[in-house]
Amino acid sequence: MNIKKWQKQIVYQIYPRSFKDSNGDGIGDLKGIISKLDYIKDLGATAIWISPCFASPMKDGGYDISDYRSIDPIFGTNADMDELLLEAKKRDIGIILDLVVNHTSDQHVWFQEALKGKDNPYHDYYVWRKKANTLGSVFGGNAWEYVPALDEYYLHLFAKEQPDLNWENPKLREDIYEMMNYWLDKGVYGFRMDVIENLGKQPDLLITTNGEHLHEYLQEMHQKVYEGREAFSVGECWGADDHTRILYTDPDRKELNMVFQFSFFAQFWGQKNGKWNPSPFDLIKLKEVLFHKQITETKRSWNANFWDNHDLPRATISFCKGMDRKEASKMLFAISCFEQGTPFIYQGDEIGMGHPLFLKEEEIVDVEARNNLTCLRDQGFSKEDVFKMVSLNCRDNARTPFSWDSTKDGGFSTGTPWLKAPADYQTCNVEEEKNDETSVLSFFKKMIAFRQKEDILPLVLFGDFIPLAEDSPSSFSFLRVYKDQEIGFIANFSPSPITNPWEGKEFLFGSVPEDRFIPSCGVLIYRLK
Ligand code: GLC
Ligand code: CA
Repeated sequence: MNIKKWQKQIVYQIYPRSFKDSNGDGIGDLKGIISKLDYIKDLGATAIWISPCFASPMKDGGYDISDYRSIDPIFGTNADMDELLLEAKKRDIGIILDLVVNHTSDQHVWFQEALKGKDNPYHDYYVWRKKANTLGSVFGGNAWEYVPALDEYYLHLFAKEQPDLNWENPKLREDIYEMMNYWLDKGVYGFRMDVIENLGKQPDLLITTNGEHLHEYLQEMHQKVYEGREAFSVGECWGADDHTRILYTDPDRKELNMVFQFSFFAQFWGQKNGKWNPSPFDLIKLKEVLFHKQITETKRSWNANFWDNHDLPRATISFCKGMDRKEASKMLFAISCFEQGTPFIYQGDEIGMGHPLFLKEEEIVDVEARNNLTCLRDQGFSKEDVFKMVSLNCRDNARTPFSWDSTKDGGFSTGTPWLKAPADYQTCNVEEEKNDETSVLSFFKKMIAFRQKEDILPLVLFGDFIPLAEDSPSSFSFLRVYKDQEIGFIANFSPSPITNPWEGKEFLFGSVPEDRFIPSCGVLIYRLK
């Protein structure tokens, strides 16, 4: 089978604020990224998704964009972006930008114009109503904000500084496509599309995801932007399931290459207070979701395989209690590499980074977390309980400065980092790991090299996926079958050793030596046929 370029990518996600600071202001920047391109190349990643680095008042870490064509001064200049594109190209690394087009910042010129009056041509770029309804914002509170001068409410599915764009307006859509083409013409490889499932919103019906015209818009976008180009697209779709994934990613429908699905994680959110109050992790439930995703229509759709991103606490902490965090990081990545689909690495996964230890409320900065410090108090929880709920589950956990070495704050910046460094940067950092054959970093490199091998890659991309031991509370195991090849994968997803079912078979690869028993988090891969 012919492998398309987008299918064989290994994508590395950078949260630019926290990756590498080049000028000592405590905030990561594009020059910092450029200085680490060799590191990313050496890891084996083939593309980099950069969370938003455009002009922004930073009410939501840059997911509130005020100018889609300018780099925010805290991240550098447009010339820095040109240099990044050039340097990445030299290394054959694609740059994937974050496309945030469900909403803009309230400081975007379109919204500033829209505020001037109902007759202003930009008024209709946003969603206005005479009356608010009960629709809630993802970040807490109501999703409508009143503007007295207009006697109207505008919609904001996220923070009130993030007014929603009106995708029903064809002029708005044209402007967005033009902007996308501008970046692709500059040499960008593609887009990660922020909350793309919200474009078809029907707020009067309280429908936010999967609205009536969503797929029409995505097909139009494909036609106006992607047609005739070799470009990459991945949509962020919290509401996608194994059926809707086909709608987004069936190549015949011409929408997106792949989508992030979140139910593997969100299934553990509490009935009440969701992410702030998660229920205990259950491996059998995790496998049910991930295996189902793997066996449903993968011939007509494509998976994005990920555990972490800038919105989730690290999976090694949420899912791997009682296990060694670094070994767990190896195991989770091996699973991503051997499932059908495209693996994503979130910065820090490759060294097994953990969370910071938040000691007081002021150390938490994320807008969602800060809103919920108040919303949860309003529900009657004690100050102590709220602090615990928020500090353990907030997005800041994944946004910590990257740990490069054991110097102050992990060598991320010579200044004071904008957010607290992880608790154990002195022992968990690139410098410590890079020459250690047994480190997480060395494992990621070997794992990528193994997966991308000519005789393995077609099986991983196109082979059938056959779940094994679905009811086992300790193993994560499956077969991949392609033509006359059959490969067995087993990971010990538990704190205690398990028996190796394939001892004596043809051993291909592993995170631990082949033996009768597999230690906690150990991964072994065998050729069975
Ligand atoms: C997506 C982003 C998240 C952001 C939100 C609003 O979920 O990943 O970080 O806050 O969209 O743009
Ligand atoms: Ca900086």
